[in-house]
Amino acid sequence: MRLEITKPDDWHLHLRDGAVLRDVVPAAARQFERAIVMPNLKPPVTTVAEAEAYRRRILDAVPAGESFDPLMTLYLTDRTPPSEIEAAKRSAAVHAVKIYPAGATTNSENGVTDWGLIRETVAEMARVDLPLLMHGEVTDAEIDVFDRERVFLERHLSPLCADFPNLRVVLEHVTTADSVAFVRSAGDNVAATITAHHLLWNRNELFRGGIRPHAFCLPVLKRERHRQALVEAATSDDASFFLGTDSAPHARGRKESDCGCAGIYTAHAALELYAEAFEDAGALDKLESFASHRGPDFYGLPRNEGKVSLVREEQEIAAELPYGDEVLIPMRAGEKTRWRIAD
Ligand code: NCD
Ligand code: ZN
Repeated sequence: MRLEITKPDDWHLHLRDGAVLRDVVPAAARQFERAIVMPNLKPPVTTVAEAEAYRRRILDAVPAGESFDPLMTLYLTDRTPPSEIEAAKRSAAVHAVKIYPAGATTNSENGVTDWGLIRETVAEMARVDLPLLMHGEVTDAEIDVFDRERVFLERHLSPLCADFPNLRVVLEHVTTADSVAFVRSAGDNVAATITAHHLLWNRNELFRGGIRPHAFCLPVLKRERHRQALVEAATSDDASFFLGTDSAPHARGRKESDCGCAGIYTAHAALELYAEAFEDAGALDKLESFASHRGPDFYGLPRNEGKVSLVREEQEIAAELPYGDEVLIPMRAGEKTRWRIAD
């Protein structure tokens, strides 16, 4: 069996910086024409000038003969001035702003500590129509880690949507039935990305035969009922749900440790993994819309013209992949995917 679709884009991707770009950019470029690139570097990408310079470093790592268009984002801090938003809107490189509640996830220390401080900056985003991408989890230690996304909807997203009814918002990597319901009932200006790992795994994967650091990401995997809600949303005709891998590479040692960090690497086989989830749901006919149409439509960009073909043949996944001087462990390491991209 062969499935030809419009070349997809990844609307949520971590590429990191420095020497590892040579390892992770080619994988993303092979799969996707464009990607919304996350700004949570150390230090974070907070200005248009930094985003433009980062974009050039990414382009330097694209293999000759491949085309790949990194769509840059700014990392919102307590002190991002409204003028930077206006500059971002004018720049051809920057397409969105990302909000990390401070302490919510990997490299979020410089994120927002108080939503009151960013009001004017968010108002400017609504005014110039620049999308706000959200890591949707509260950070309070007393809130159960499995409830942090749901509580975020009540505490932050709902009031924000009420205050800025026209603001374009993407709730990134949704993991719960609650988020799916929220996005469904919100206006067309509110969308969500869904990862391949949240479509394929529930939280049992974290403890399958022992503790599995390579299945740990944030927002953390949820119970089966939530996974099913995500599959339903991704395979539905609702234009608000589109592809964002949240592929998040980390060196092996950073994950296999007494305090392993969050992030799952899927860029090596993202489309193949999504195809499995859609096939399991009997919805392969919806993959193209999810992967290649709804994202550019939401961002107001043209759909890609190129095509990519998936064939239903097994593909072996390496047990580890190079990552600068170290290695990373990809999703499905040492196992197989049911699909592969045709050469
Ligand atoms: C991401 C990372 O490693 O940068 N980690 C993750 O678990 N998803 C950050 C993020 O998107 O939360
Ligand atoms: Zn992410």
